[in-house]
Amino acid sequence: MSSQDYKNYRREYQAGDLRRQDLALDPWQQFAHWLSEAETACPLDATSMSLATVSASGMPSVRIVLMKSYDHQGLVWYTDSRSHKGQDLNNNPQASVLFYWQPLERQVRISGVVVEVPAHTADAYFVSRPRASQLSAAATPQSQVVSGLIDLETNISQLDNNTSGKVIERPKPWVGYCLQPTQFEFWQGRPSRLHDRFSYERKDSAWAINRLAP
Ligand SMILES: Cc1cc2nc3c(=O)[nH]c(=O)nc-3n(C[C@H](O)[C@H](O)[C@H](O)COP(=O)(O)O)c2cc1C
Repeated sequence: MSSQDYKNYRREYQAGDLRRQDLALDPWQQFAHWLSEAETACPLDATSMSLATVSASGMPSVRIVLMKSYDHQGLVWYTDSRSHKGQDLNNNPQASVLFYWQPLERQVRISGVVVEVPAHTADAYFVSRPRASQLSAAATPQSQVVSGLIDLETNISQLDNNTSGKVIERPKPWVGYCLQPTQFEFWQGRPSRLHDRFSYERKDSAWAINRLAP
């Protein structure tokens, strides 16, 4: 394999800037403002976020999930609790998520503690999904080694036949998780690496805001 050299692979970030006077005092307000701009600038995947978890042995792991809702309690996503991330969260309920909105040259990093959402909330979300996605979630054990695609497709079509004309119940392992933040960081790319960064750290019921060096 020929080795590739990326040392000149860079660009200037110049879509905007972030000044202290522009920041909301509440990080949720700041997040809402940036997310609404991201929905316009990145219409396909504005709510996709990289989710980092850590295993019982301390091994970090990261993957993308879709944020399905947020409020002042936290950010919610849905997944199979038997998956690697589910096992990690079971052992260590701390996580970090990252949104990267490339056209805006912005990233938001949010860390905190993860709790499961109530069963009735997960039920309501599961019911709202297309039937094909419900079948796939119910018939495939996420992140387990399987013998082949054909087995997965067979499981799905068997479940489809067995539940024909009926509502598909949310599988118990399919749950919602809510990240309750203790820390936010907002990053705006700027020319010549002089990026703007502000962190919000939870201090009792208030948020301490600090500029960070790029
Ligand atoms: C754009 C995108 C959105 C995704 N959304 C979800 C999601 O909402 N929930 C989920 O469980 N996996 C989602 N995935 C798949 C995960 O990245 C991952 O493959 C899966 O959850 C298994 O991860 P784990 O083995 O680390 O638990 C998404 C992947 C991509 C690329």
